[in-house]
Amino acid sequence: MNQPANDAPIGIFDSGLGGLSVLREIRALLPHESLLYIADSKYAPYGEKPERFVEARTLQVCRWLADQGCKALVIACNTATVHAVQTLRETLPLPIIGVEPGLKPAAAASRSKVVGVLATANTLKGAKFARLLASLDGESRFLCTAGIGLVDAIERGDVGSAAVRASLAGFLQPMLDAGADTLVLGCTHYPFLTDTLVEMIGGRMALIDTGAAVARQLARRLAEHGIAAAPGAAPFTRYATTKEASHLQDMVAALLHVDAQAETIVIEPAPPLDAAAHVLR
Ligand code: DGL
Repeated sequence: MNQPANDAPIGIFDSGLGGLSVLREIRALLPHESLLYIADSKYAPYGEKPERFVEARTLQVCRWLADQGCKALVIACNTATVHAVQTLRETLPLPIIGVEPGLKPAAAASRSKVVGVLATANTLKGAKFARLLASLDGESRFLCTAGIGLVDAIERGDVGSAAVRASLAGFLQPMLDAGADTLVLGCTHYPFLTDTLVEMIGGRMALIDTGAAVARQLARRLAEHGIAAAPGAAPFTRYATTKEASHLQDMVAALLHVDAQAETIVIEPAPPLDAAAHVLR
């Protein structure tokens, strides 16, 4: 593969809409960069799918991004990072930036040293997450809960209904009862619940989102590789989805307050859900 030019786009991948919370930070920090966002909404949520499927599908979608000429990839999905980032780095010759739940900043910020962690079931059961927890042994007590149903709700555009609030209350009350004063948003979808969370637990728990830190890490990697876009470049942002373009377009308007065209792209056949292991091995 030829080295992409400095004005090539940065590929940003998520199972669905969550990565838009990372894209928002990247646009703010790196306004000269062109971005190609892909939401694999047809197969979201990844958080409750077989881990081997998540690995194989992530590789398949990221190959598509590389084929579009992206100069670097941001895996704006904790679940995909946990299960696929190593395979991606071994397979694709591009700088690849993953994300991980912000346990370290949370441990540093917490006064009570009790930290709640909300993430997908798959993120919490990955070996990479277990290593992160082990590396912080003794720093804080981490109360980890799978936010079952939250990604589905956010994919539908629901960031504050009575049902979402009831789910959040069920996840957060045990954390509050245990003295948690800090909450890690360990899934890139969850920052879109910030307004609802502030209403529910503002003043009692500080929210930790790593989107801005991911953008800074991307900036460092672009500089190291000498592939940052020059100031004055005319950047574009392209929004693609494997589901309905009109829904992504509506969600970009609702969540980012940006009017943009979105497109539907086809990346098939997806790995079989029950035999994904054969795709990679
Ligand atoms: N945004 C993804 C993450 O950060 C959501 C995964 C899912 O599709 O369940 O984990």
